[in-house]
Amino acid sequence: MEALRIGIVGAGAIAQRNAKEAAASGSAKIVGVFDLNHKVARDMAKALSAPFFPSYESLLVNSDVEAVLLSVPHHLHKSMTVQAASCGKHVLVEKPMANTLDEAREMLACCEKNGVQLTVNYSFRYLPKIQKAKQLIAEGALGDITGVQIIAHQFKDRGYWSGARSNSPDDWRASKEKCGGGFLIMNVCHVIDYIYFVTGLKCNRVYSEYATLGSPAEVEDIIGVTSRLDNGGIVSISASSIMRGTDQSEERIWGTKGTMILNGEGLSLYSTRPIDGKRPGKMTRYAKFPNVSWTAEWVKAFAAAVRNRTRPDISGREGWDNLALISAAYHSMEKGVPMEVAPFPHDETPGA
Ligand SMILES: NC(=O)c1ccc[n+]([C@@H]2O[C@H](COP(=O)([O-])OP(=O)(O)OC[C@H]3O[C@@H](n4cnc5c(N)ncnc54)[C@H](O)[C@@H]3O)[C@@H](O)[C@H]2O)c1
Repeated sequence: MEALRIGIVGAGAIAQRNAKEAAASGSAKIVGVFDLNHKVARDMAKALSAPFFPSYESLLVNSDVEAVLLSVPHHLHKSMTVQAASCGKHVLVEKPMANTLDEAREMLACCEKNGVQLTVNYSFRYLPKIQKAKQLIAEGALGDITGVQIIAHQFKDRGYWSGARSNSPDDWRASKEKCGGGFLIMNVCHVIDYIYFVTGLKCNRVYSEYATLGSPAEVEDIIGVTSRLDNGGIVSISASSIMRGTDQSEERIWGTKGTMILNGEGLSLYSTRPIDGKRPGKMTRYAKFPNVSWTAEWVKAFAAAVRNRTRPDISGREGWDNLALISAAYHSMEKGVPMEVAPFPHDETPGA
């Protein structure tokens, strides 16, 4: 397969990994780098032996560039996607897809209109642990899913909010207008995505409470979300970036036939069924998973979708579904009422 020729846009913290892994994926060639901060862009271009571009426009008009990989602050995801799609470039955009559903709707429509593919970086799906969880659930290990609990707590210090740990420091993460929200949209979005992926279910109604209790930021640093899945099961999310001590991160998924626990140690499964050659009625631990570059897998899958003209694994639809839950959670707290989760706008974007 001919490598997808990608222009890297944004050469800040995560772009370092994205660009390196894309280049090493075997499915992509880096053909340009642009960042408003010319120094970090030039450094990256040099390291990758790729051309530096002095502006986004100059990169977009270059015919060698087939796709852009956008690793920029959230408030730029919409405008930079629309600009790229309008120039006929495919788009790999970092999570979240955008800050609002109106922005996401415009991105979907513009990519559709210009016949370009869009993918959102929810690449944790390619982690072997997550793939295994999906396989076990598909084989019926849990029966009908009745409950999901997401626990995500860590501590983000002042340096995080001021961008001090980035090679391109900026305090956009603390701004509601630029970041769209706090720990939910910034971090827990990954977990929501892979829970949707492994269960094949989505949330349709949400209640939420959030606050900013210990961070120099406008966005939330603690949030609780209760939600109903489309099969009637209940999801509960407890998340914060102000819990001192060791990070706590665990997901529990249970159903009529079993329980699954995903955490830093791997995956544990209890099933009343004989699944995967294991004895029923016993807790089985899957702890050893191969190391995989999830970012490279994401780029590889997208390059194949572009070449084969098929829908990417993680398309605008997955980006929308994720943002729809997050937006409903924020609106629930702001309005003090439960909110319905907005369905994917099929009619406006057939096949997106
Ligand atoms: N997938 C993951 O695991 C993961 C991890 C961290 C961050 N992210 C996401 O990656 C994105 C970037 O985050 P980051 O931590 O790298 O931020 P960062 O602040 O370190 O880097 C952002 C870069 O964008 C550049 N930039 C700003 N405005 C620009 C413009 N108009 N044109 C071109 N470049 C511009 C900045 O100069 C900076 O270099 C966000 O969407 C974030 O949520 C994803």
